[in-house]
Amino acid sequence: MSDLDIRHATLSDIDAVLRFWRQAAEGTSITDDHDGVARLISRDPEALILAERDGLIAGTVIAGFDGWRCSAYRLAVHPDRRRQGVATALLEAAEQRFLALGGRRVDAMVLESNERAHHAWGAAGYHREDHWRRWVKSL
Ligand SMILES: CC(C)(COP(=O)(O)OP(=O)(O)OC[C@H]1O[C@@H](n2cnc3c(N)ncnc32)[C@H](O)[C@@H]1OP(=O)(O)O)[C@@H](O)C(=O)NCCC(=O)NCCS
Repeated sequence: MSDLDIRHATLSDIDAVLRFWRQAAEGTSITDDHDGVARLISRDPEALILAERDGLIAGTVIAGFDGWRCSAYRLAVHPDRRRQGVATALLEAAEQRFLALGGRRVDAMVLESNERAHHAWGAAGYHREDHWRRWVKSL
């Protein structure tokens, strides 16, 4: 989309990104605070990708690569900007990053109840695998 700017988030974006996620994201995570996002950007300055329109955040995705897996997190688009190709553009940017780093396959965790997300991931070429469950332990 021509009027969409795609760029990496910097430390100065953190507060705006947290506000944006409260409005636009599905669910929250244990790392949804200033320190959590600062750690992400400091560790991997190209991981948090923003789509902006008219200087405002229209969408986000985290494209995380640890040398082994490519993981996409926090795909979210502002409610007023949906169905305009923003998620599509963000996933393209994430995938370009993964390819440039030598990534081979992208994982995304998607809530079972989030049917809108199923449509969006499906439209971008992702498919669901049924034989996994998430195992977690808080540190
Ligand atoms: C899911 C989400 C990121 C999609 O963002 P988006 O910018 O609206 O998606 P796009 O405009 O790029 O849509 C691309 C395609 O996905 C599919 N799609 C997206 N939203 C859809 C919906 N609500 N219903 C059906 N299909 C949908 C369509 O095929 C669409 O293409 P089309 O508009 O030409 O028909 C957005 O709805 C969102 O932020 N939801 C809340 C947060 C969330 O659930 N994130 C995913 C976490 S896993």
